[in-house]
Amino acid sequence: MTTHMVSPVFAGRGGELAALGEALARARAGAAATVLVGGEAGVGKTRLVHEFEQRADGVLVLVGGCLELGTDGLPFAPFSAVLRGLVRGRGRDGVTALVPGGHTRGLARLLPEFGEPDKDGPEARARLFEQMLGLLERLAEDQPTVLVIEDAHWADRSTRDLLSFLVRYQRSDARLLILVTYRSDELHRTHPLRPLLAELGRVGWVSRLELRRLTRREVVAQATGILDREPSAADIELIYERSEGNPLFVEVLMGETGGDTLPESLRDLLLAKVERLPEETQELLRVASAGGQRIEHALLTAVSGLDDGALSQALRPAVAGNVLVVDGEGYAFRHALIREALHDDLLPGEHTRLHTRFAEAIERHPSLLPEPRGAIELAHHWHAAHDATSALVSAWKAAAAARRSAAYGEQLRMLSRVLELWGQVPDAAARIGCAHVDVLGQAATVAHLAGEFERGIALAGAAMAEADPDTDPIRAARLLRRRGAIRYSLGRFGYLDDLRQAAALMADSGPLKLRAQVLENLARVLHDPDVWHERIATAQRAIELARQAGEPAVEANALIALTWGLCQRFSRIDEELGAFAEVRRLALAAGDPNALMGSAISESDVLEGAGRHERAARVAREGIAEAERQGLVRTSGTFLAINLAEPLVSLGRWDEALEVIDRALDHVPPPPTQASLQGFATDIALARGQLDRAEELHESARRILSRGAFRAQNLLPHACREVALLVARGRVDEAREAAERTLREHDFMVSARYSWPALVAFAQLGEPLLPELWPPARRLGVEGDLQRAQWLTFTALTWPAAAAGAGPGAPLALAAGPLQAVPLQAVPLDVGDGVHAGPRSGVEAPGPGPGDVAAGRLMAWDEAAAAWAALRQPYSEARALAAAAHAALALGDRQQAADRLARSRELADRLGAAPLVAELDGTARRARIVAGGGPGTDGAPEAVPDAPPLGLTAREREVLRLVADGRSNREIAGELFIAVKTVSVHVSNILAKLGAASRGEAAATAHRLHLFDSDA
Ligand SMILES: Nc1ncnc2c1ncn2[C@@H]1O[C@H](COP(=O)(O)OP(=O)(O)OP(=O)(O)O)[C@@H](O)[C@H]1O
Ligand SMILES: [Mg+2]
Repeated sequence: MTTHMVSPVFAGRGGELAALGEALARARAGAAATVLVGGEAGVGKTRLVHEFEQRADGVLVLVGGCLELGTDGLPFAPFSAVLRGLVRGRGRDGVTALVPGGHTRGLARLLPEFGEPDKDGPEARARLFEQMLGLLERLAEDQPTVLVIEDAHWADRSTRDLLSFLVRYQRSDARLLILVTYRSDELHRTHPLRPLLAELGRVGWVSRLELRRLTRREVVAQATGILDREPSAADIELIYERSEGNPLFVEVLMGETGGDTLPESLRDLLLAKVERLPEETQELLRVASAGGQRIEHALLTAVSGLDDGALSQALRPAVAGNVLVVDGEGYAFRHALIREALHDDLLPGEHTRLHTRFAEAIERHPSLLPEPRGAIELAHHWHAAHDATSALVSAWKAAAAARRSAAYGEQLRMLSRVLELWGQVPDAAARIGCAHVDVLGQAATVAHLAGEFERGIALAGAAMAEADPDTDPIRAARLLRRRGAIRYSLGRFGYLDDLRQAAALMADSGPLKLRAQVLENLARVLHDPDVWHERIATAQRAIELARQAGEPAVEANALIALTWGLCQRFSRIDEELGAFAEVRRLALAAGDPNALMGSAISESDVLEGAGRHERAARVAREGIAEAERQGLVRTSGTFLAINLAEPLVSLGRWDEALEVIDRALDHVPPPPTQASLQGFATDIALARGQLDRAEELHESARRILSRGAFRAQNLLPHACREVALLVARGRVDEAREAAERTLREHDFMVSARYSWPALVAFAQLGEPLLPELWPPARRLGVEGDLQRAQWLTFTALTWPAAAAGAGPGAPLALAAGPLQAVPLQAVPLDVGDGVHAGPRSGVEAPGPGPGDVAAGRLMAWDEAAAAWAALRQPYSEARALAAAAHAALALGDRQQAADRLARSRELADRLGAAPLVAELDGTARRARIVAGGGPGTDGAPEAVPDAPPLGLTAREREVLRLVADGRSNREIAGELFIAVKTVSVHVSNILAKLGAASRGEAAATAHRLHLFDSDA
């Protein structure tokens, strides 16, 4: 299945690279620097150092590795390797020339090319050490040098001594960085590297870096790199669980096509440690390997038949040798794969016998393990003991135990086990008291709860094949309901059909509760304005039935569906919001976590739609905390993260939003949730001018959204981002095409909430597109403060045509939107009979003169800015103010312009919205306005005090200085210790900001403006 053996993508490790980068920068700047890089085998020490070298341009890298030959191995092995490499590159004489005084007899100990070694003895050794250090220092004079000593846990005594000498006597002006890697998991208590590490740790310029295992998300990135595509959620789960984030294990596991057994090479690697232990310890470890990754001391005693003392004695070497770790009242294997390797090594008879012993011990002493672990482990042991009947029955019981602890993933596994074994147990249904079709149905439900949507759809489909709607309408309705709900969660077609069909099957008969549930589910997915009335009626009917049935949980969910629908009239949500308190009361009474989650999701959603960002964020945050308590982090929790990220983005709390997004993505949520989260991260990256990042995120969301049926709430923001990205890249024509495509392919009447931002985004593309924007703009409703702000922005953007109409005699009238019953009270801008035309500041229809147009536009933008300010949306406000400043300048009113520029810049600065800051500074410069409020006196210098000149960031300024010095991108990258690609991004931003066509022109501008005169 693999495409690459090794992932070309380097996953994570940003912090570690930065730390190494800083150490190198210190060395370059003339300070001694050594970094000790520790970590378990395969965690990525070598790769990290390699990636670091790749990024360190203009540096000489010398690498020497220690060999695994025991502690009496080859003396000085890594240094011999370093020297050999140098001789290969420069010839013996070239190297000799670098040794102080040309005396190389010391080096002859390392490499025979250097002749006869001097006599043994302490001076000889001292001379060798001095010569090696001298050689390194001379090399570093020519070029910053990195000496890498790999695998120091295998270092022989001499190597350790020389290393210690080099680190301690490393000169501070030598531009030499020493990196030492070692396996921290090899360092048992008496390992000889330990004292050396402790000693070096006390040296001032030595720092330590301990590499941790990769996070789940980093494993996904690595696996994606290996496969050249994203692995499935199930594969991710498997790979992450087995590898526990060790990248070497990820590679080996993925390289293995067979699946279940461990690859030979990995097994040998893992077992090597165990084989060094005494035989009785190994025997006990084999027993323990059947018990699982973590095993209680009491259980191990019961199974091993040893008494406490004998058991402890046998275990001690395993703990000392780092194979087992003590974990509370039991032991855990230090790596799950060690257990697996041991377990794979069991003989077949031994395997069955051990698992039977475990099963019997747990049955005899149920108190040995807490629930649901006891039931689940029992099921596991019976299964592994190949006793089909006991395995099936115990799996069924384990499923029930898992359900009691809301461990849906486990429950699903156990139900799947029951289904697998079904054929081998003739009286299965009688033994567990449940029919096959119902086990399937239950498994589908649990798959849904566990977020395993694809599985759920498949399981529901399999069950439906066993349930005939004519003879068994109720069971069929139940399954249709489940499949509809899962399809909906996954953004798949067919959900509405499933649910309507389920409702039809039980239109006037069947259990009250189920009827209420089906209607509730149906109401929940009727989003579009054209089925709004159906939604309200369906939800109301569901509430009635739920009350009759005495089912507060169903009632709670139906009330959510109703309230969400009513709250779509955003201007009137205050009358409806109280219902959410009632929902929570019902949900708590019923003990239904899903209703609690649904309430938080819906309430935060409508609050955000109404522009109540703070409150939306609060409700979403409380919901996430609740999701954590309920064990629903991956599903409801990550979905709520969307509802938290959105208001945080609106409020300009971008760093906080990014944290929320990152944390949610760490849980690897279902793809549609990922896409939404990435969407908000894209918005932030765009506003901050991080275009590469924005593109990467956008692309990932695009892949998800291209598979499945998604709604306007996903697709329209996505289209806006597409347009914004193209604009930011200067590809305005393509942006127009993308906007036109969106207008063609989407029904803008479906959701005013998501259509308005799109119209605003597209209106910025200017003239040619405007005629296509009028029809939806005229027909869409404006509901609530948020849409009002968007509508004002749209009006300002298209002023004066918006007010006057797209052409003579075609006034832009904002008619009531698709929710015909809703009067547009929220829009206070009526001009006469329901025609909303322009800002309220007493501006009549725009007059004929250009000055009047500009005055109108200024007022339109001011009004938009005020609306955004009232909503606490600083980025939108800043952009409106920037546009207002332009309008003021067009009017010739520099005072007004300066005022708006200053307010805008302050907001943009706080947000880190670099492109906007640059644009504002450009405007100020051209208008010769000094930041801080007033227009500058004519003829005053162009520089704007306290602001970066020309809107350049500090970094760009550094880059520009080097460009002006005539340096290449590669040289600049080396100097600033950043990637060449990053330099080229900086350079293109600089060119854009300076309006320069080439590097030469940019350099000329820098000189002309005397930018660097004072820094020399
Ligand atoms: N962050 C990463 N992203 C992608 N692949 C990685 C990453 N880290 C390590 N790998 C890959 O995992 C494998 C093991 O990494 P590496 O050899 O660097 O481990 P190590 O810590 O040096 O192990 P050892 O202790 O055996 O020397 C390599 O093939 C490497 O390319
Ligand atoms: Mg290595």
